Amino acid sequence: MIKLLAEQVFKPASFPEYTYVSRMSEDINVDYEIRLKQALKISGCLTSIIGPSKMGKTVLCEKVIVFENLIEVTGVDFSDKNEFWNIIGAKAGLPISGQFSEMERFTDLNNQKEVNKTEKFILNKDGVINHFKENGLVLVLDDFHYAQEEVQLHIAQQLKDAIRKEFKAIVISLPHRADDAIRKNADLSGRLSLINIEPWREEELEEIAKKGFKELGIEIQSDIAKKISIESLSSPQLMQYICLSICTLLDSDNEKIIEVPENILESAYKFTTINFEYKDVVKVLKEGPNPRGKQRNTFDTKSKKTLDIYGLIVEAIADNPPLMGLTIDDIKNRIDSLLIDSVKKPDKQSIRESLNKLQAILDEKDNIYRVFEWKDHKVHIVDPLFLFYLRWGKH
Ligand SMILES: Nc1ncnc2c1ncn2[C@@H]1O[C@H](COP(=O)(O)OP(=O)(O)OP(=O)(O)O)[C@@H](O)[C@H]1O
Ligand SMILES: [Mg+2]
Repeated sequence: MIKLLAEQVFKPASFPEYTYVSRMSEDINVDYEIRLKQALKISGCLTSIIGPSKMGKTVLCEKVIVFENLIEVTGVDFSDKNEFWNIIGAKAGLPISGQFSEMERFTDLNNQKEVNKTEKFILNKDGVINHFKENGLVLVLDDFHYAQEEVQLHIAQQLKDAIRKEFKAIVISLPHRADDAIRKNADLSGRLSLINIEPWREEELEEIAKKGFKELGIEIQSDIAKKISIESLSSPQLMQYICLSICTLLDSDNEKIIEVPENILESAYKFTTINFEYKDVVKVLKEGPNPRGKQRNTFDTKSKKTLDIYGLIVEAIADNPPLMGLTIDDIKNRIDSLLIDSVKKPDKQSIRESLNKLQAILDEKDNIYRVFEWKDHKVHIVDPLFLFYLRWGKH
């Protein structure tokens, strides 16, 4: 038997053949795979998958639909809405346009002549739909939220018409991001199969480590798998990354490793952060808004740092245990316990105001900066990799 390499087993950025974990969707206690298969069987329905980033939406489609039949396009592909069917046809391997020539005889009043007439053909919608049906292809429209609103509405309209003709399509988007064009579109009501992907539970994440290390012939104790799953912050991708880092640090491809030692964990977490680039994001958060020459209050922490309110908020979010959602009270309590006893603690109101300002700063920036959302008196971490970086990265 050929020994598997760690990189073949733990696949943080592509389809994990050896560490694929099948999960139940909590609302109805059925595997996600079965739900998706069922959804695809109902002809005339469009499937809408919604779930937080990096929770396995794409991997689920790749598991259920055989590779050759899966035609993936993403929201960013469609800058011009009129190109929709052309782009899909091209992805499915159809020629977008071409030419054919024929000799044509025509007569005018004076003489008869032959001309070589060249005509162009352009791939049309019905051609694409037929090609999909004949070959059992499924369109997966990934990252739909990245398309502009106008384009989204146009696509929804096009798909509505196509699914009636038994065209099979799945639209994937993030929660709370402009999924209205599909889910709240009155034209599509009654024609949708909805699948919501939930964040991963710790036991499900542990499965990834247990499966993978078993494939590699390395033992892992349950409590160690559990520790890693907590740091993975509901992200199967982080779990895969950390496990791969452990293997790299142990040089498991070349050394005979019997068991995952506990003392490797912290270095594996730190090592994993080199894959993530959030330095600038953290810097922006720690700096806060432009102080316009005013001196900010500073506070002394037990770990002998002097921080302003923005530095404190960042430290509080990074603190133990890692939480994907923090209420204003959580943040206040964490800040209080970070500070030395004699220091006057910042009040809730000033924490709240600072969070408002941070949110405004993040809103103005690129997607990579959308790491948390401050709303309903709560900080929601949107990007688990960011929180992981905050906890273990050098910044
Ligand atoms: N069922 C699974 N079993 C094991 N690992 C998984 C599973 N689903 C996802 N992963 C891991 O998580 C990674 C990210 O998954 P995927 O790309 O499907 O997420 P996504 O929800 O499509 O993310 P995005 O929102 O960025 O498109 C995969 O490359 C894989 O490492
Ligand atoms: Mg995806």
